[in-house]
Amino acid sequence: MRSVTFDASSRRWLLRTPGTSYVVALADDDAPRCLHWGPALTAEQAASLPGPAAFGASSFDSTAGEEELVSEVGARFETPSLQVVLPDGDRGIEWRHDGHEIDGGHLTLRFSDRRHPLLVELHYRVHDDSDAIERWTVLRPQVPVTVLRCDSAAWSVPALDGYRLSHVTGGWSSEHALSRTELAVGETALTSRRGLSSHHANPWLMIDGGDAGERHGEVWSCALAWSGSWRVTFTRTPSGRVNWTGGFGHEGLTWRLEPGEEWVTPVFAGVYAPDGYGEASRRWHDHVARHVLPRPDEPRPVVYNAWEAVGFDVNEANQRDLARLAARVGAELFVMDDAWFGGRTGDSAGLGDWWVNDERFPDGLSPLIDEVHRLGMRFGLWVEPEMVNPDSDLYRANPDWVLHMPGRSRTLLRNQLVLNFARPDVADWAHKWLHKLVSEHAVDFLKWDFNRAFTEAGRPGDPDQDRLWIDHVRAVYSIMDRLRADHPHLRIEACAGGGGRTDLGILARTDQVWTSDNTDAHDRIAIQRGFSQVYPARAMAAWVTDSPNPLTGRAVPLRFRFHVAMAGALGLGGDLARWSEAELSEAAELVAVYKDIRPVVQFGRLWRLPYGVQYVHGDRVVVLAWHGPVAFGTPIAPLRLAGLDPDGRYRDEDTGTVHHGAVLMSRGLPPLTPGGGYSSTLLRLRAC
Ligand code: DGJ
Repeated sequence: MRSVTFDASSRRWLLRTPGTSYVVALADDDAPRCLHWGPALTAEQAASLPGPAAFGASSFDSTAGEEELVSEVGARFETPSLQVVLPDGDRGIEWRHDGHEIDGGHLTLRFSDRRHPLLVELHYRVHDDSDAIERWTVLRPQVPVTVLRCDSAAWSVPALDGYRLSHVTGGWSSEHALSRTELAVGETALTSRRGLSSHHANPWLMIDGGDAGERHGEVWSCALAWSGSWRVTFTRTPSGRVNWTGGFGHEGLTWRLEPGEEWVTPVFAGVYAPDGYGEASRRWHDHVARHVLPRPDEPRPVVYNAWEAVGFDVNEANQRDLARLAARVGAELFVMDDAWFGGRTGDSAGLGDWWVNDERFPDGLSPLIDEVHRLGMRFGLWVEPEMVNPDSDLYRANPDWVLHMPGRSRTLLRNQLVLNFARPDVADWAHKWLHKLVSEHAVDFLKWDFNRAFTEAGRPGDPDQDRLWIDHVRAVYSIMDRLRADHPHLRIEACAGGGGRTDLGILARTDQVWTSDNTDAHDRIAIQRGFSQVYPARAMAAWVTDSPNPLTGRAVPLRFRFHVAMAGALGLGGDLARWSEAELSEAAELVAVYKDIRPVVQFGRLWRLPYGVQYVHGDRVVVLAWHGPVAFGTPIAPLRLAGLDPDGRYRDEDTGTVHHGAVLMSRGLPPLTPGGGYSSTLLRLRAC
């Protein structure tokens, strides 16, 4: 059970989640410091923790450490979390504790600066059914201040023998590439300066002592709920201490706050797990399902999306044909992708002109939508509200609506520019046409795309133009929130050229993420493994597409492609018109199997296996295993399952064979034998 308690004599607060504890205390100078983040402690144990220690071996060292938000004042030389410039040039905050509030699982620590009217609140929230500790910061200046940095939280871990950092890197079509490296002594920054959480980094991290594995070892992890630019900076001191501070915005931005303003940062949540990366992931999945996703309990439908089939060559006839085939194989939601609107016949024109292209759809969208509904599917549409092609009526009429700087070129990426949603008139325009589109066309689902990074992010005449990096994202959130509130049936998929905008901020107002434009099942295995570190399977959209894959040219059997995609929210994205009768029949069978295992995959708990995944939900277990080509003689280990009842028996739902839980976990299943090809399997077990 969660709880927050305060011990006045030692000026410390104990926060408890079902499985962990966090202790924050005030040092003599009132600076808030972390005393413990780890296994559950009783109040008595928490009270016995040594108080905030004074560090500093010399006059060149920090005298403080483990601070909850690192200020610039005093002997503090870690990366600052809070950098503010006050009217007289004073910087930072000199902490003075003003009090606290406890409201259920929500703790607010209130501080002010000792000399200036600047209020700072540190917020913490814990839940009964999650081991995440949510943290954020609120600034309330009573004088004008310039903010150079205002992070959501700083975190620290106990002294360990080593420090290994897990995070993801990548690029377009290679998102979520898992990296585990020793944290360097010095500073290490993970960041996006692109205006979106990005393909190249993702705002989460895990730290362990270098000794953790999938099923053992302590892991400390954090994830930032923000979909724009961000930065997390680690400091590993030569004396062996590690902390990190993270929040929205990248380095070099400044924001001016006026007296009376309230500056609220996004949540930077932390999860401690005693039993390895796998348990850390499961704790994140539980948290995302229980406190982030808007409709976690709703099964994600089997989508058919026509993008890889027709690209920009969309018309009513080909969409109808594909819709019939999609329904035949069992799709539940038909999504028409790019190029149904304006003069959009390629990526160089029409973006921004959100009316139905009447050459492609002479009678509007209704005939197609009616047909999709008649076939028993819901209807979805692709949109990219934040972008514009210069070759569009919208841009010709409003050239100042885009991010730009008067003396700089307007850099085109994918032939498009970014609309400045920080302008209320632009955000309002977007909300209006989206609202009209959804209202008039019975649209059940939007795939909301975002296909380029920010450049020349200016707004001439705005003295505080760096605010647009934040305000743009807030406007996107607000439009999504309003659309969802006004259209309760509407579901949204977040997309940014694949998985470029995957984060806890966007997941709070969307139902799933388009994981990657790379749909090659072989490549997807690693992409999905990286995705699964923090984000749950129900939010991971995964299509089965054509073979050879249009992007990579790799040929992979249909069954293998299905087995990989079935590990998430299964969809179909191939050119079904070119699939043989046999392939369509096999696809229909596999879609039916997916619908059977869907509750286990989407609502179950994940165990990552060396070459597959296992989901457990109630008395059911699903194993999906896959292996690509190997050199002759390569040893492949049996697949040892996890998370089962060792005393339990499990019946194979397809063959009737009964297995012992203990044997499945110790000896495992016979290994796959791919040889020079691709081998995969799906196992459905039920406790008996
Ligand atoms: C990028 C997306 O990731 C693709 O799935 C597709 O929607 C294209 N954009 C359309 O332009």
